[in-house]
Amino acid sequence: MNSKKIDIIKIGGSVITNKGEYRSLRKKQLSLICKEISKWDIKCIIVHGAGSFGHIIAKQYSIHLGFSYQEQMKGIFQIRKDMTELSEIVVNSLVEEGVKALSFQTSAIISENKSGYDVNFNSIKKALTLDLTPVLAGDIIFTEKEGFRILSGDTLANILANNFEINRVIFISDIDGIYIRNKDTGEDELATSLSKDDLDFISISILQQSDSNDVTGDMKGKISAIKSLLEQVSEVIVINGNYPKRLTSIQNSENFIGTILIAKKST
Ligand code: IPE
Repeated sequence: MNSKKIDIIKIGGSVITNKGEYRSLRKKQLSLICKEISKWDIKCIIVHGAGSFGHIIAKQYSIHLGFSYQEQMKGIFQIRKDMTELSEIVVNSLVEEGVKALSFQTSAIISENKSGYDVNFNSIKKALTLDLTPVLAGDIIFTEKEGFRILSGDTLANILANNFEINRVIFISDIDGIYIRNKDTGEDELATSLSKDDLDFISISILQQSDSNDVTGDMKGKISAIKSLLEQVSEVIVINGNYPKRLTSIQNSENFIGTILIAKKST
């Protein structure tokens, strides 16, 4: 493996928080995940989601729909406060496990103009050369068109993949991987291995699209983020963070329960 390359690990908000309960942390689960991440021996950038520290207030104030009324600022202030707290908790948990983690606030380094993103990753690049592990999160970013919008951690992984030499992206979710519906039996089955092309043809199980609090698209949003990620990176992996040891199995190239998505179908 090319040691210059970097892995992105996205810790889903659904696994480190109780998504239906405002600001409810799954502290023990977070520590267990951070413990496994501490064994990761490839440089990485960590991205975490919001879970109930972001989605509930975002929905209440329609933050995901962009600016439409002044009262939304209350929601923006609250989400900034809650997400700053969550990022601090994540970073502290990583540091406790020995990871040299340092947080960077996403909307301070990414905004959106008419034709794309304005980014400034200089500090993150420097931090990586110093062997630090940058930690970013899904955030509310400022945009030319809507004033603001939510940038999910999944889309953030895409922007990072466009700007860094990324090897693999690992999504730590609260489900075992990507389930697809078997057209013959009607059953939902865990896909262990998929190619980018497969994603155009399979029918993703609707069971995974049922989170009413998620303002960034749930599994549908993840699939489209994965499709564009596979334009940049060779491998994307989806695993269940309720079983953090699966991260170690990935590292050790052992069998694990999850979905591996590859850019190209092997011939
Ligand atoms: C959402 O990020 C960010 C905010 C709501 C501020 P994500 O969409 O990546 O969060 P999770 O992982 O789904 O909770």
